[in-house]
Amino acid sequence: MIIKIFKNDEFASRAAADIIIAQINGKPNSVLGLPTGGTPVKTYQTLINACNEGRVSFKNVKTFNLDEYIGLHPTHEQSYRNFMNTNLFNHIDIVMENTHLPSEENAANYDEMINAAGGLDLQVLGIGGNGHIAFNEPGGAFDSLTHKQAIAEATIRDNARFFDGDIDKVPKFAVTLGIKGIMNARKIILLAFGKGKTQAIYDTVRGQVTTNVPSSILQLHPNCTLLIDEAAAGML
Ligand code: F6R
Repeated sequence: MIIKIFKNDEFASRAAADIIIAQINGKPNSVLGLPTGGTPVKTYQTLINACNEGRVSFKNVKTFNLDEYIGLHPTHEQSYRNFMNTNLFNHIDIVMENTHLPSEENAANYDEMINAAGGLDLQVLGIGGNGHIAFNEPGGAFDSLTHKQAIAEATIRDNARFFDGDIDKVPKFAVTLGIKGIMNARKIILLAFGKGKTQAIYDTVRGQVTTNVPSSILQLHPNCTLLIDEAAAGML
């Protein structure tokens, strides 16, 4: 694992965008794995600016998102489809048909769809305060493929901030790429910002590889870089 610590999320997000831009400029038909959440927003803004300035083109890029809530219509404000359209896809030159999110309907085929596209060249990850990656919650198997997942209590509480602070409004299930699908990516970058991620980053980097901390499996990936701010690095 390569660990890069930045003064703040601004610098880390710019570094993440630079890696994504270099990936696409080196291979214009790259296949990207993408997260939602608060963490990647600044990275996506940087990508939008780079695209508008002609420094990168997504015309031949394919994307596969990590996860999607079950029970929210794609047009729902908090659906991950809506998040991706609003925060990235609507503002870049990507072909919408080349953007994919998992769903109950395509879950059984999602890994095959990724393989058919050539496999993930670059997987971008956030991380939960409990060490989850995508919606792979503590205790889940390391050899999992795309599956339906009950969202952990802690994650429901974390995500309530996007649902007027009301945990009852947060969906209780999601479809998520599995740990095996994530580990199949040729290259991974993980972003983590703020104090809420300090323990998870410590466990990811210094802890045992254990299903209790899903992100700890990344220690075994041959090409994984962590881009984190000083707060998230606080215990390293
Ligand atoms: C979302 C995802 C999740 C988030 C994680 C952190 O697609 O994969 O694992 O990365 O829950 O969320 P934020 O960035 O909101 O702290």
